[in-house]
Amino acid sequence: MKKVIIFVLLLLIVMAQPAFSGEAMDKLLLSRGLKDIKLPAPVKSGGMPLMEAFNLRSSAREFSSKDLPEQVLSDLLWAACGINRPESGKKTAPTARNWQDTDIFVFLGSGIYLYEAGEHKLKFIRSGNHIKATGRQDFVEKAALSLIFVSDFSKMDKKAVREDKMMYAGIHAGCITQNVYLYCASAGLNTVTRRMMDFEALASLMKLSADQTIVLAQSIGYRP
Ligand SMILES: Cc1cc2nc3c(=O)[nH]c(=O)nc-3n(C[C@H](O)[C@H](O)[C@H](O)COP(=O)(O)O)c2cc1C
Repeated sequence: MKKVIIFVLLLLIVMAQPAFSGEAMDKLLLSRGLKDIKLPAPVKSGGMPLMEAFNLRSSAREFSSKDLPEQVLSDLLWAACGINRPESGKKTAPTARNWQDTDIFVFLGSGIYLYEAGEHKLKFIRSGNHIKATGRQDFVEKAALSLIFVSDFSKMDKKAVREDKMMYAGIHAGCITQNVYLYCASAGLNTVTRRMMDFEALASLMKLSADQTIVLAQSIGYRP
């Protein structure tokens, strides 16, 4: 409701200024984190040789405040869990029976977004800088962004017991987090995967349903 009121107010402000172009309105909404973000197409070539990336893969907890350029964010999310076979819709990370149960929520300075691999865009969820809320360690808020990997149990076999679903969710998020680690090693970014967080508070902030379980977080940013 609050989101709708803010949106209507912004719209009224914009409409009161005839000189306001569509592009300017896009910028205004984006700056307030009130808009989906269409990512540039991922660059699927280049990068560091794979064996060198393995050699550099590590967790690091120091970050500069510099934002990631949109192209880097695009490439990072595609590497994490983007579609690499459009004909089948399959992804860069495997899932049991191709359930594709893991959603990636992206916490940026402007707001919280859901990565939609099909359209390769960030769907707006809520505005504001909530990066700090994704962890309990001091370094978390210093990173340019946090990813939260959420498993949607409704996408798994209905007959699977909860214990199995938890196991699959962990394995699936584990595959994604390693993709992110390798991309970061190649792109000169620092990253660390994390489970130390307030799961309940975060789920409520992210407006998750009862079927959605937070599995892992990952901080990403440039080296200081
Ligand atoms: C499932 C999992 C949970 C983790 N949780 C945290 C965490 O909450 N906070 C943190 O700083 N590091 C966390 N880590 C990172 C580990 O501490 C790190 O991977 C480990 O020390 C080995 O270091 P390396 O990744 O550089 O090889 C986690 C790693 C994994 C795989």
